[in-house]
This record gives sequence, C-alpha cells and structure tokens, in this order.
Amino acid sequence: MTTPDPADESVLVVDFGAQYAQLIARRVREANVYSEIVPHTITAAEVREKAPTGIIFSGGPKSVHVDGAPMIDPEVYDLDIPVLGICYGAQLIAHQQDGTVGRNERGEYGRTELTVDADSGVMLDGTPPTQTVWMSHFDAITEMPDGFDVTASTPDAPVAAFEDRARGLYGVQYHPEVVHTEHGQHVIERFLTEGCGAERSWTMASVIDTQVELIQNQVGDEGRVICALSGGVDSAVAAALVHKAVGDRLTCVYVDTGLMRKGESDQIVETFERHQKIELIHVSAADRFFEHLSGVIDPEEKRKSIGEQFIRVFEAAKAQVVGAQFLVQGTLYPDVIESGTSDAAKIKSHHNVGGLPDDIEFDLVEPLRALFKDEVRAVGTELGLPDEIVWRQPFPGPGLGVRIIGEVTPEKVAILQEADFIVREEIKKAGLDREIWQAFAVLPGVNSVGVMGDERTYADAIIIRAVTSEDAMTADWARLPYELLDTMSSRIINEVAGVNRVAYDITSKPPGTIEWE
Ligand code: XMP
Repeated sequence: MTTPDPADESVLVVDFGAQYAQLIARRVREANVYSEIVPHTITAAEVREKAPTGIIFSGGPKSVHVDGAPMIDPEVYDLDIPVLGICYGAQLIAHQQDGTVGRNERGEYGRTELTVDADSGVMLDGTPPTQTVWMSHFDAITEMPDGFDVTASTPDAPVAAFEDRARGLYGVQYHPEVVHTEHGQHVIERFLTEGCGAERSWTMASVIDTQVELIQNQVGDEGRVICALSGGVDSAVAAALVHKAVGDRLTCVYVDTGLMRKGESDQIVETFERHQKIELIHVSAADRFFEHLSGVIDPEEKRKSIGEQFIRVFEAAKAQVVGAQFLVQGTLYPDVIESGTSDAAKIKSHHNVGGLPDDIEFDLVEPLRALFKDEVRAVGTELGLPDEIVWRQPFPGPGLGVRIIGEVTPEKVAILQEADFIVREEIKKAGLDREIWQAFAVLPGVNSVGVMGDERTYADAIIIRAVTSEDAMTADWARLPYELLDTMSSRIINEVAGVNRVAYDITSKPPGTIEWE
C-alpha cells in the first residue's frame, strides 16, 4: 500500500536537520495547506513528481561553507515552484544563487529587532516597519545577486529578508515559525497566498472526506475491518473515521483488563456503542488479568503478563469477527517521520494496546498517518467524539498495572482508581487539563503511621504525579498551585479509605520517567 495523496494542494518542507521542520509543517497546515516533510536529498525529479504548490527549506545547524553541508539539487530552482528559505534555508538559496554568505564574527540568538525596508515586498507587506523576530544564526547573507530585492535587515544581518518575485524565490534569515516572532504566521501565509497562489482549502472537514474515500477504496465493498480500542484518542478517532467509511463492516474490540481508570470502560461503551453506533465487542476480562498478576512483583514481568493476556483475549474476540482482514491502527505523522518510511506494506503487529500478536497478518488501515496529534483531536471533534475522549491524556497500554509498585490486586486498583479520579477531577476543575500533559495518582505500596481523629493509622500513601511535556520524551513536573495540591490531598485522605498520606513528585524527566513502575 502506498500512501495516497491526502490533499490536492501541498507544500514540501525540506528538512536540513533543524529541530524546526515539524513546526514549519504545522504552521503551514494551520494556514490550511497540507504539508509534508521530505529529506534534503530529494531530487528535482522527485519533487516534480509530487507536484507541490510550494517548497520551504528549513533551518539547519550547519554552515553552507563546511564540507558535507546539506545542499539541495540545484535543478529544484528551475521547476517553477516557489521556494521559501528559512535561516539556513535562506542562506542556501543565497549560496546556490551566487549571493554571498559571510562568516560572521558573532551570531544573533533570540529576540532581535527587524527593520523592514520601504519596499516590504510580498512577504512582509502589511507588517510594521520595525518588529521583533527570533534569530538563531551565526553566518549571515551579506549580498544577494541581481534580481533579488532585500526587504529587511537586523543589526547583524544586512539581508534578513529577500525575494525574487519573478522567479518565486523568497528567504528570511529569522524563524517565522516560532511564536516569539511577531507576524511570523503572516509571513508564512503571505508566501502561501501571494507567493504560491495557494487556495488554502485544507481543513479537518476536507481531511475527513479524503480519508473516507481512501478507506473505501482500500477496503472495497466487502472487506471487514477490526479495531482494538485502547481508550486513547488515536484509536478512538481512527475507529470513528473508519466507521464513517465502512459502517457496520467495522467491529471494535475493547478489552477491559480491570486496570482502566475509574469510569473509563463505561464511557467507551457509551461513546462507541450508543453514540457512534459502532459494533463493539466488550470483553470484561479483569478476573483473568488479576489471576495472572497474582504474586508478580517485577515490573517487566507485570508488563509481560498483561501483554500476553491481552493477546489471548484479543485472539478470542477476533475469531468472532468472521473474515476480518483489515486492522485499524492509529499511527500518526510523527511516527512516520521517525521511522523514515512513507510506505507501509503488510506488517504484522502493533505495539500499542499492550501489544497485539506478532503472528496475525492483517492489512493495515492507517487513516491518521498524515496527521499531527492536535489535528487528530480536531478530526475527533469534527466527527462528534466527546471532549473526554478527544482531550484524553496519554495512558499506558498496561494501564494502572504500571502505577502500582509491587503486586497488583483488585483492592489496590480500587484504591488507585479513586485517588486517580480525584486528581484528574481537580485538575479539570482548575481548568488545567489541556495545559498538563498527564496528571495521575500512583500507589507506591508504602504504608506509614498517621493519626486520623484520635486513632493511630497505618495505611497507604498516594503519590500525585503531574507533568508538562511536548512529546513525553522529556517532561517537567507541573508547578501546580499549592491550593490545588491541598484540595487534592484532603479529598484523597477523606474520600479514599485506606490512604493516610499524600506526596507530590517533583522529579523531571530525565532523570525520572513519567510513570512509576
Ligand atoms: P515514561 O514513563 O517512560 O513514559 O516516561 C513516557 C510516556 O509513555 C507512556 N507509556 C506508555 N504508553 N504503552 C503506551 O501506549 C505503554 O506500555 C506505555 N508505558 C508508558 C506514558 O504514560 C508516558 O506518556
């Protein structure tokens, strides 16, 4: 299966090794033009084949003067496709078009004042004569060849913006994609509209229409599709999209492991069966999971046990869906970029949802392959999924099983579910649920002495974990207001029997991880 064209109009973001390529791609999409990240080794012929509406060269850490500096096939400039270069990308255009890139004595980093020339050109038209931009460069373009107009400068970059309208070549030395640059989005939009003549019609509604058609083409008139719902946003949105495309030929499987958050299973049944009218095989398998977890203390063994039981239960449920040959998977665009592949052949397993079997062969249906997480959420909302699902925090496949240190028992899960519910409810009440990456409770399996009323107690402690993060690779502990922590602590101790102490985890990642296990 090749990835089909998800839009009529697209911009290629050529990655020169900057941390900003993804951000640029997202900004273009926010301007309602579909964008795709490609490596700088792409040839002019490959670009022509993709027929983009415009091309953006990203920034990058190298100097154009060093050996091995990443270049672009010079024939790309002759394709008659408008190009915008950003930072290194702008320097590269200057370098390859016979301008001069000087090796500066010192660079410019952070906020810088940009002075726009009287002829502000296409990109800066409509912006003030001086504005704050965000810089991160060492070299600087000092001269552009004939045909290029210089439209702005900064104290250390005499050519901070340039354009050759006739040839459709544009460049900015600064980073319009970052929020610290005033009018940055305006510059990107001007490039798209005026530079490329883009219609800017890529919306979540158009994404849904396109994907529905693609799914119908892939699955055909007879194909049956199966989808494992984890309770997370990706599988939920993928299922809703596929359902829109193939209706009752989709069957979802939801395995209640007994390790879900409070109320989660009911909500999944409510949303998918009653609301979305999707056929759902709901397997309540808690007893089986607890039985196999009995006496297991080692965290890896716990994960293995949960994963194995999940496979068994899923296999049994799958057998009920006679003739299912397609499996829905909620793969997102960042996963595709990371794996470096754009084509997915028949592959065997997937690692979410506690790991599906390695040896079942399905054709994968991956309707979210072209989307970033925030776009998946927007599609979910457009499809009528409730906020509780669309804005759900990441939740590990093995569920609360990885938030209980030591043996996992139904009694411990019940304590943790109650405490966790309070933490999440209070975060929501405080209006912080979209700011906080994850907030939850952990049962460390530590008992300590306390005093409640006139009684001495010896009971469990609960740890509150709340972190901010962009991508879960790194995270910082959330600076929650003391009053909020106070409310959580009192409620947990008053409302959850068996808990007499609450602590707050103030460890970032690294050195900690987000979960406790
Ligand atoms: P750590 O604890 O490694 O977690 O900092 C990073 C992120 O991954 C989530 N997580 C999982 N997600 N299956 C998942 O789908 C898993 O087995 C799993 N384990 C951890 C975790 O919640 C955090 O967002």
